[in-house]
Amino acid sequence: MNTTPSQPESPEGLINPNTPLPGAPELHYAEGQLHLEGVALADLVKQLGTPLFAYSKRSMLEALKRYQLGFAGRRARVHYAMKANSNLAILQLFARAGCGFDVVSEGELDRVLAAGGLAQDVIFSGVGKTRGEIARALKAGILCFNVESTPELEVINAVALELGRVAPISIRVNPNVDPKTHPYISTGLKDNKFGVAHEETLALYQHACTLKGLRIEGIDCHIGSQITTTEPYVDALNRVLDLVEQIESHGIAIHHLDFGGGLGIQYQDDTPPDANELWKTLWAVLDARGFGNRQIMVEPGRSLVGNAGVCLSTVQYVKPGKHKNFCIVDAAMNDLPRPAMYEAFHAIAPVSLHSSAAPAVYDVVGPVCESGDWLGRHRTLQVSAGDVLAVLSAGAYCTSMSSNYNTRGRAAEVLVDLERWHLIRERETTADQIRLEKLLA
Ligand code: LLP
Repeated sequence: MNTTPSQPESPEGLINPNTPLPGAPELHYAEGQLHLEGVALADLVKQLGTPLFAYSKRSMLEALKRYQLGFAGRRARVHYAMKANSNLAILQLFARAGCGFDVVSEGELDRVLAAGGLAQDVIFSGVGKTRGEIARALKAGILCFNVESTPELEVINAVALELGRVAPISIRVNPNVDPKTHPYISTGLKDNKFGVAHEETLALYQHACTLKGLRIEGIDCHIGSQITTTEPYVDALNRVLDLVEQIESHGIAIHHLDFGGGLGIQYQDDTPPDANELWKTLWAVLDARGFGNRQIMVEPGRSLVGNAGVCLSTVQYVKPGKHKNFCIVDAAMNDLPRPAMYEAFHAIAPVSLHSSAAPAVYDVVGPVCESGDWLGRHRTLQVSAGDVLAVLSAGAYCTSMSSNYNTRGRAAEVLVDLERWHLIRERETTADQIRLEKLLA
């Protein structure tokens, strides 16, 4: 079953301003104007233009609190998977709130350090770490490498020996559990490129013990993203614990257990468990099997930032058609690639309810020269040119996956904090984009 929200078959109705917007705890209408926390989004747009991403600080910190509540009194820590949104101010916010980080490139490590985070709080995941990246992370003194294959294990060992260091490692096991999510974001099935097969893990730990450049710290697993049920986590946990028992029976100590990220958010009518509730179930399994005192790590991304953000966009043209009406906006697949990539659903709400336009069903599309450039399909809207729309749940995997396609500058970003807001990324100019390019002599 594919539980990733995709486009509705029949038109989505008009947004009802009197019911909570999907998955958006800090968004509400006051006097017909959409507010994020205490900031009227129309005012923000007047000052900064569109496309514009606005994030609620409170929403991010509340999402983090659900994990921290679930971890109270336990040896457990959140390592924010910054691929979801790697803006420096957001990293700074999470570092100050006590998070470590999960990185997948040297660039992400650089960002953590630039935001005031510490290398000793960083875990390094990913299937294709280069020698250069491994050396950089070793010199910086990261907490742990999550190793995804035998050749990578050998390379980490070799680089560590060359540098006269010992690399802390976990092996990422592929538990072959179906997370019941979109195939592109499932990672823990045996056909995926990630991790080491369950049945090969013990032998790889035994091999790691013989390598002088390595120190075994833990075990790791991550089964996918936008997971909306508890069951795949329980299955993966049990499989990992079976392995830990097997590995430890061979005299190899596993100090920490890293369960990755993957918890889903509400885009439409998804009902993922809350992090605290999920962890009540997982602690019960850990306690029952005698692992309740082990150091635990998690790597959530989307569930910390996804519902905190909106993408604000101005309607350029309303283009009625015989078969279809198009609402052409100034945000596009380069700003918000999830619909184009995964047919993902993001709710779309008007920033002002004071529209005199008649309701009609639209495909909301961007200006990019691709038929795949759409943000929402079959949406009932009351819109005229110049109106502003908010694409919801745009805090995760939007700006971090954005591009300059069609030489479009990346959008500006704002962090809203009660009645105040901070510009956390300026709008990118064409000069920024062509800075590294060279004309021929
Ligand atoms: N840890 C590892 C090793 C990962 O690969 C990922 C995500 C995470 C943690 C964080 O997962 P989260 O808690 O955010 O689900 N671009 C896709 C999502 C790709 C996720 C990749 N890995 C999307 O927009 O849905």
